[in-house]
Amino acid sequence: MDIDTTAVNQRRHRFGEHEQVWLFGYGSLIFKADFAYLERKPASIRGHVRRFWQGSHDHRGTPACPGRVVTLAPQAGATCAGMAYLIRPDVFDHLDHREKNGYLRFSTTLAFDDGSQAQGLVYIADPENAAYLGPATDSEIARQIAAAIGPSGRNRDYLTELADALSELGTTDLHVQALVACLPPDSSTDTTDITDSR
Ligand code: SIN
Repeated sequence: MDIDTTAVNQRRHRFGEHEQVWLFGYGSLIFKADFAYLERKPASIRGHVRRFWQGSHDHRGTPACPGRVVTLAPQAGATCAGMAYLIRPDVFDHLDHREKNGYLRFSTTLAFDDGSQAQGLVYIADPENAAYLGPATDSEIARQIAAAIGPSGRNRDYLTELADALSELGTTDLHVQALVACLPPDSSTDTTDITDSR
């Protein structure tokens, strides 16, 4: 599947004199900050909701068994909470590669908890990209997540780590909570004692 957005993203923004840029993270960028940043703080953006509607063929699934990861869907009046990172523009080399499976960088306004605002960038996988999966029922999405695993680990861990990170941020995301509730039991943590007792 040829959907690598790296080259497109690298042409999308000219950072010019900007030595620092705010990045808004709402998915794995909240709980897996594997890049250098100068500062981070909770923030939110308006007009979008977080949804497990993007396919993952490279991180939490494979081309044969894609996982599902989050993207943002437009919704009037909604607010999406996440984490803002102040980064140097060269960090986008790493981020563009990490988010290459269909995500494009968009400009957005970040609102911080203290009431201040800043312009920044956010990665969104819109319905035009080839890895987009779109809506499904909670139980279908949870079943797909439970079955998928990729080079970055189990898809179910992406979901539960995101749920934990959001609760640490003190935010309630009903979509994420519903998917956690629908996850089939985790067989790898089955602690049944299989010792032969005879
Ligand atoms: C993000 O976290 O902001 C983008 C989606 C992801 O990488 O999980």
